[in-house]
Amino acid sequence: MTDPNEPAPSAPLLEVKGLTVEFRTEHGPVQVAREVCFTVRSGETFGLVGESGSGKTVTSLAVLGMVGPSGGRTPAGSVRLDGRELRGLPRRELRRVRGNEIGMIFQESRRSLDPAFTVGDQIAETMRAHLGISRRDARRRAVEMLELVGIPAAARRVHEYPHQFSGGMAQRVMLAIALCCSPKLLIADEPTTALDVTAQAQVLRLIRDLQDELGLAVLFISHDLGVIAQMCDRVAVMYAGQIVEQAPVEDLFLRPRHPYTAALLRSVPNARDGADLVAIPGVVPPAHAWPAGCRFHPRCAHAADRCASEAPGLVPAGDGALVRCLLADTLALEGVR
Ligand SMILES: Nc1ncnc2c1ncn2[C@@H]1O[C@H](COP(=O)(O)OP(=O)(O)OP(=O)(O)O)[C@@H](O)[C@H]1O
Ligand SMILES: [Mg+2]
Repeated sequence: MTDPNEPAPSAPLLEVKGLTVEFRTEHGPVQVAREVCFTVRSGETFGLVGESGSGKTVTSLAVLGMVGPSGGRTPAGSVRLDGRELRGLPRRELRRVRGNEIGMIFQESRRSLDPAFTVGDQIAETMRAHLGISRRDARRRAVEMLELVGIPAAARRVHEYPHQFSGGMAQRVMLAIALCCSPKLLIADEPTTALDVTAQAQVLRLIRDLQDELGLAVLFISHDLGVIAQMCDRVAVMYAGQIVEQAPVEDLFLRPRHPYTAALLRSVPNARDGADLVAIPGVVPPAHAWPAGCRFHPRCAHAADRCASEAPGLVPAGDGALVRCLLADTLALEGVR
């Protein structure tokens, strides 16, 4: 007989359901992400894309149980890793999960490196805290980790301090720390946004290579559709705290189903040869002022009267895609090749 507590072999590695994030603000409690649902399968890269303020970072922090320190809470939802519920776990246990099972890397994560300690010490400390290995083993493994993330002369550089590393090299150090306890999932929130073009390309390639080599799953967050196209297998598009479309990456670019996705695609340079860039009119409204009905309707070129009052659900739209638009069936939106 099968154990009902064992996840089925096809179960996703990460399963997020109905996740809602709320902050107390001067406008009262405000839900900055609402009923977010997605899954990340073993070995795949799942992307979250959307304009600034759409709720990508708060969603990833909520997955990690980390909205508390910035004054937020997750009043609803479920986050399962390998079938195990993370929401409601004691803080200590969550910290263990964050080191051992989920690695994280952020934009300008150099700021989370301690300037007073060598990078080797910082990698070794993480491994000692999470894996309980000896100081000597940890030091040896720290050099191996720096080699793994492609830092030249690792045996020497392990003794250097964070300020001695360029932005790109510092992101590699952060990757070494994120991966040193062999997590199954890496959460990468705009990991290359602060880097120059060359360093960005190198770090993205590194993440892809490491993913192949280590069989990692990645939750990859970016506002940059070009980067998303390079990195991801499946993508969810966020707008105003909600997922508005989700699809396999090629499908999303070729055949967007939500007017917001189509508008995002048109607003990106190089996305369409010869086509004029069209900025999306207006901005993402602040979280306390998200409109009734479809939250995108004030900026939508296709909006009908009922879009102002009827809130669309996220519904299946064929080929594994989901869309949150009342008019999705009637629109023929243009994608990019
Ligand atoms: N600590 C906080 N207190 C109150 N509101 C917050 C807090 N952190 C984030 N928010 C609000 O939550 C919403 C979503 O923010 P979030 O940082 O997740 O956006 P994002 O999609 O990651 O944007 P970006 O591309 O700029 O990183 C925004 O309206 C933001 O102002
Ligand atoms: Mg963010």
